[in-house]
Amino acid sequence: MKAVSIFPFLGATVLAAPLCGNATGTSDTRLNLLPSTVTHLQLALFLENLEAEFFRSAVSNLTDQDARHGASFRQTVQAAAMQEVAHQQALANILGAAGAAAVPPCRYVFPSTNTDEFLSVGKTLSVIGAGATVGLVGPLSATNPELVQGIASIAATEARHAALFDVANDAAPNPTAFETPIPGTWAFNLALGLAVPGTCPLLPPHGHLAQTRCIPPGGGPDAPTRFTWDAAQEPFKAQSAEPLYVAWVNQMRPPIYTPLGISAPGSGDAKAPEGLQGAVVVVLTAQNRLERLEELAAATLAGPVVLVV
Ligand SMILES: *[C@@H]1O[C@H](CO)[C@@H](O)[C@H](O)[C@H]1NC(C)=O
Ligand SMILES: *[C@@H]1O[C@H](CO)[C@@H](O)[C@H](O)[C@H]1NC(C)=O
Repeated sequence: MKAVSIFPFLGATVLAAPLCGNATGTSDTRLNLLPSTVTHLQLALFLENLEAEFFRSAVSNLTDQDARHGASFRQTVQAAAMQEVAHQQALANILGAAGAAAVPPCRYVFPSTNTDEFLSVGKTLSVIGAGATVGLVGPLSATNPELVQGIASIAATEARHAALFDVANDAAPNPTAFETPIPGTWAFNLALGLAVPGTCPLLPPHGHLAQTRCIPPGGGPDAPTRFTWDAAQEPFKAQSAEPLYVAWVNQMRPPIYTPLGISAPGSGDAKAPEGLQGAVVVVLTAQNRLERLEELAAATLAGPVVLVV
């Protein structure tokens, strides 16, 4: 493979060393990427677009005097915003070198309108960003090992963003030993949920999943978690006779399945397994055997929902 110059933004080193062999050159050398690799990188950019806009919006919302967190917090958020832009630029450069389309940003609606909500939503978005980037390492290592180091270095920074929110929330910045990996289809659907429908110029080719909402348990450690969904959604109509399960994905453990007790159309309860910690990714499925995340992603009926416990 010939060296390709990829110009970084804001001094960030280029994603993967083999791609930046010529610091002076032009970038007309093409990079050969498999279509599946292009899809993975487009998904990574789709997520970075969301994160960049989230932090950009937060910077303009926060004031230097923001009561609890002070001027340095706004600067930290501003630095995170610039880091997301650097990620966008690096991914767009690689896609460009491969002759593939960069994914432009959508318009987004964030479910946060004040600083407290920003801190809560930001924590969840950051663990999604870190987990989704970790999730890309598996498929990329099979086809493009030379890209893995760069992707892993993005994941490390996304995890620091999660820690930034932990510190601001007075929580421990290092809650778990392992990040929870998020397969591409799940990450795509999580990000799509914050985009205004019809405003994404280019969507990475992942399937759209049915939606479910999750109401965390109230009233004691044994209380079940309630899931609700629109029962008119296609997979629920087709599966109505079969038992459903909640798959709980946490850190590097195989998924844990618990039965979903349907209490009414579009509503059911499941008990969370013990010992979950950190980011928990939850989906509804009609089987309780699959151990590999990619297989579970393909067998997902609805979700995901991300809980931070
Ligand atoms: C870098 O790229 C330029 C333009 O393609 C070329 O002229 C030059 O020889 C290259 N340098 C190295 C060290 O490969
Ligand atoms: C910034 O404020 C606007 C207006 O309240 C809100 O819609 C948006 O979600 C906020 N951004 C973030 C990241 O919380």
